[in-house]
This record gives sequence, C-alpha cells and structure tokens, in this order.
Amino acid sequence: MNKRQFLRIAGGGVIAAATLSSLSGCSADLPPAAVAAWTPPAEDLDIRRWVLSHALLAPHAHNLQSWLVDLAEPDTIMLRLDTRRLLPETDPLSRQLVISQGTFLELLDLAAKQKGYRAEIHLFPEGEFDSKSPDGRPTARIRLARDATVQTDRLFEQIFHRHTNRGPYESRIPDTDARAVLAESIKGYPAKFGMVTASESSIQQHREIAMEAWRIEMQTPHTLMESYKLLRVGPEEIAKHRDGLFINAPLVRALVALGLFDRSKPSAPDSAVIKRQIAEFNEKMATTPACVWLTTSDNSRTSQVNAGRAYVRLQLAATALGLRMQPLSQALQEYPEQANNYKAIHQLIVGQGVADTVQMWTRLGYAPASQASPRRELQALMGKA
Ligand SMILES: Cc1cc2nc3c(=O)[nH]c(=O)nc-3n(C[C@H](O)[C@H](O)[C@H](O)COP(=O)(O)O)c2cc1C
Repeated sequence: MNKRQFLRIAGGGVIAAATLSSLSGCSADLPPAAVAAWTPPAEDLDIRRWVLSHALLAPHAHNLQSWLVDLAEPDTIMLRLDTRRLLPETDPLSRQLVISQGTFLELLDLAAKQKGYRAEIHLFPEGEFDSKSPDGRPTARIRLARDATVQTDRLFEQIFHRHTNRGPYESRIPDTDARAVLAESIKGYPAKFGMVTASESSIQQHREIAMEAWRIEMQTPHTLMESYKLLRVGPEEIAKHRDGLFINAPLVRALVALGLFDRSKPSAPDSAVIKRQIAEFNEKMATTPACVWLTTSDNSRTSQVNAGRAYVRLQLAATALGLRMQPLSQALQEYPEQANNYKAIHQLIVGQGVADTVQMWTRLGYAPASQASPRRELQALMGKA
C-alpha cells in the first residue's frame, strides 16, 4: 500500500484507499475472468473472431466498450455503436464514443494485416449519424479479404502491452527521437499531431488547464455521478461487468462494505474524498513531463473515427518506447461547466479563430508497465442493441 492510497474520510481517521485518478495503478490483482481477453486468441480461430479478439482490447472512453458487432454476412463484420452504452453527461455529443469506434477499427486492421488479410473498411455505409446523437446505423462495414500484398505493421506487437497509465510518470523528458517516432506512427492519417515537453514553458498552461478541468469534473455532481455509476469495486463487481472504471484495493472494498463510500450520490465538492482526488491529480500533472494531442480540421463523425485510429497508433508507438499515456479528456468535453477550459485548450493548441477540433489530449511520460483493464468477452459484443 503506498502513501498516495491514503485518504481522509469524513469523521476523521486515515483510511487506505485507491482513488479515481489512479484506478488501475492502485488496484490489487483482478479476477482472471475479467482480464482473460488479454491472453492471445488461438491461431486457428476463425479470422473474424481472431481480429475481433484484438480489436476489443482497444482503449475506450470510461472503458465502456460500446461496440456491437454483427457477423451475419460472410467475410464481413458490421460494427455499430451500442446506443445502450452512452456517456450523456461527460460525452453529450458522443464524440469520444465515436473516437472509441476508431480505436477498435485500427486494432482490427492491424490484426487483419498480421494474418495476411486486407480489411476493407467502409465508414458509415448508411451515412453518418448526426452531430448530437448516434443512432443504430453502422459505424463501419468491414470486409476481410486475403491479400498477399498486405504488409504487417510492427505496432501489432504492442497490442497486448498497451495500457492507459494513470500513475505518476518519471520526470525524464521524452526526447526529439521519441517525438519523431510518435509523429511517424500516424503518417498518412488525417489528424495533426502535436507535443509539448517540460523543456518548454507552455507546458505549464497545459498543466493548469488539465488541473482546472479535472477539478470541475470532480466537483460537478452530474459528471461525478456518471463515473460513480460505472465504478466497479471489488472482484465480484469487476468480474460481473468487465467494463467501466474499477478499484480492487481491499480497503476500498472494506469502505464500501462499511457504507463509508456511498456511490449512490455524488460526494460533496468540499469533502475529503474529492479534495484528495484533486490534490492527487494535481501532483501527477505538475510533474508530467510531456503532453501530446491530435487535432482534426473538422469535427465530422468520420474525422472522429480517424482521430481514434490515430490515437491508438500513437499509444502503441509510445508503448514500444516505454512511454505511457493517459488522456486528459475533461477539458475537451462538451458539457457547459467545461466551456472555459474547452476554449482555453483550443486556443492553446490550435490558436484563436481556428476551427480545428482537439480530439485527444494526453499526458505522456516514462513509467513502469501498468495493469490491464477488464474486457467483456467477444460474445457480449454480439448482443442485439
Ligand atoms: C476517447 C477516449 C477518452 C479517454 N479519456 C480518458 C480520460 O479522460 N482519463 C483517463 O484516465 N482515461 C481516459 N481514456 C482511457 C480509457 O479510460 C481506457 O482506454 C479504458 O479504461 C480501458 O483501459 P486501457 O486503455 O488500459 O485498455 C480515454 C480513452 C479514449 C479512447
């Protein structure tokens, strides 16, 4: 149990606990069933299931895994956004959910190439859903075709090693070679890559916006409640849901069992729990040695998918370098309480009067490998919406 895992609870006393900002980092081992997906599938598995077993390891906002797949048509995978799995409070326009369709498609594509297949990905074959809410129309129709000319991609090797890392990062600054490798990883993808390191003074503005945005998310009851609803505490809840945010530290489980951590209502903005969340995030952000981002020139659904594809490539390339990432989505979220931070991060990254959208903005730094997060089994993605 490390020092950061202690928090003060109302009524006094110091109780050890993991916190929302470092969920995976502080959790005890997860139930094997919840992380079974991280074992590579059998090589002779049907090709569609084989590529899907890789795709479902993709990063997804709040680990919601809003992917629905349909294999009714031979050689074809129909991908839809599961409209039962939305984030109405923190992602009111479902932008992050659509990005998370893109991360899935990119891993699927890498896996197909690995097996000598070309994944013909037709985005929004029945048209894009509108800019407010997704509907049942597919995000992509993917046809898998054998192709002796496809080349494998080295990023494939990182799929099982890529994990979002919410822990503290070393102060070591990623060098210009790392920047070049990251930029190269998304060459040809329609998203612009940017990076700032602690050797540049503007990193301070990045840190300040991230901290303020995190504070707002923690102290806004409706956004905090969205996280609480998706928070799985202890092995039973984690194994049952295999999605969402998770804490498995024994003492948090004890807190829940004792009724001292009540997820049915938002914690008061000035409560010890929330103050601790904010202080801990600020501590990590203050020492974060770099931030990276991806912008697109428009904010269409297609651009959001492409941003997701590019994002997971960046994270895979970073993983190969020993670099970790944690998205800083709060300031990019479109709920009213974040409006000032949304404006500030857009001004800082794309400049005043430029219409580009910051799709992903993340911390970046060196850190030991972190724990895998739960995934549902492939069969669960084949349920009807
Ligand atoms: C669009 C998007 C937004 C995300 N935003 C955040 C975020 O703000 N904070 C964070 O800690 N993780 C964020 N993540 C990471 C997810 O929480 C993570 O992918 C998910 O929990 C699964 O864990 P894994 O990436 O380790 O497999 C985001 C991921 C995506 C794709």
